[in-house]
Amino acid sequence: MTSANTIPEPLRALIPGYATRVILPELVSLAEREGILECIRAISPFTFEGLCATLSLDLDFDLTRGNRRRMVRLLVELLSEVRWLRRIDDERWRCHGSKKVVPEIGERGEEDGEIRFLRSCLQGTPAYLRGDEPPITFESGCAAAWEDFLGCAEFQACRTVLFDMMASGSAPETRLLDLCHGPGWGIERALDRWPAARISAIDFTDGFAETARSRTARAIGRNASLGLASAPVQWYGPSNWKGFDAPLPFADESFDAVLFGCGDPYIPPGRREPVYADLRRVLAPGGVLEILTRGLPDAERRHVPSRTFRVTTLIHDFAESVCAGWQGFSDVGENLRLFERIGFRDAGPSSGEVAFFGSSLWFMRKGGCG
Ligand SMILES: C[S@@+](CC[C@H](N)C(=O)[O-])C[C@H]1O[C@@H](n2cnc3c(N)ncnc32)[C@H](O)[C@@H]1O
Repeated sequence: MTSANTIPEPLRALIPGYATRVILPELVSLAEREGILECIRAISPFTFEGLCATLSLDLDFDLTRGNRRRMVRLLVELLSEVRWLRRIDDERWRCHGSKKVVPEIGERGEEDGEIRFLRSCLQGTPAYLRGDEPPITFESGCAAAWEDFLGCAEFQACRTVLFDMMASGSAPETRLLDLCHGPGWGIERALDRWPAARISAIDFTDGFAETARSRTARAIGRNASLGLASAPVQWYGPSNWKGFDAPLPFADESFDAVLFGCGDPYIPPGRREPVYADLRRVLAPGGVLEILTRGLPDAERRHVPSRTFRVTTLIHDFAESVCAGWQGFSDVGENLRLFERIGFRDAGPSSGEVAFFGSSLWFMRKGGCG
């Protein structure tokens, strides 16, 4: 994994974990306000099952459906990471009842879409935990919130890094697929970088169509004003693709590169292998798969050793759980095995690395077998 001194330049401008350092105290006060911390104090030392039973009984949480039990697990992991809880053994935790939960925010940065979005997720959390439907969906009514979130400084810097890495081996007319294009931030970055790229963009919802198409039209217009010709983007929507449960509507080896930003945590658990095998199918030999996500903190701290990344991921995972279809960030070790099994090979920032920035960025090539 990449060490601090090899962090790519666009990422160095970020204050690491800033958004979640702002959100952490808000999340903890929500847990205090809703009585979750009080339940933990009352039953400490506790087991996970015991905590779920108490939250269901005392706070009326509906932990029988969807990802809500997983949210409780994430909260326990987070409170352990910030050392308010201590793991006693494989099954039990104990709390430091009087200990201050939250570290100082430290250096102040911009309050951007990442903070606003995570905050709005937290606002919907109490009702969601009690059984309400997800407050944030991929319908057009939520498009503005997604646009604000996904255009945040961190994700934009990550897209720049991924495209920088792709640049060396790519032809000007590279065939790029933006998988789950959302509001079109990836398409815009790609058009800035490769004005002549032949871009296809697909999503399983029409909810972003307007936002993504107007962002794309502006990017193509900017290129034209510089005398740079851009091909029209090929759009594929819900009439072409039903989402991760279905294969992509493209012939084998149609693309030189696939950008898959912030969509991995929406792949249903049983579909991870078929989805990534299908992505390998549509890539040309040696084609690049770039993924922007986060790496779930591993118990051994091998894949996600940094405390900042661990806390950031747990908060982000917990908050975005209130969005329709969220399955959560995935295990880095499992992903490495999956990608190798399917037939992707390492081509990260330095030889032998596929994932870096706390396993947030993955850069792989289609290998010869699999
Ligand atoms: C967080 S947005 C990311 C959008 C965009 N890739 C970006 O980086 O800005 C998640 C994307 O996954 C798509 N998505 C969510 N659930 C899906 C599913 N079950 N099948 C296919 N796509 C899905 C959404 O429509 C959305 O475009």
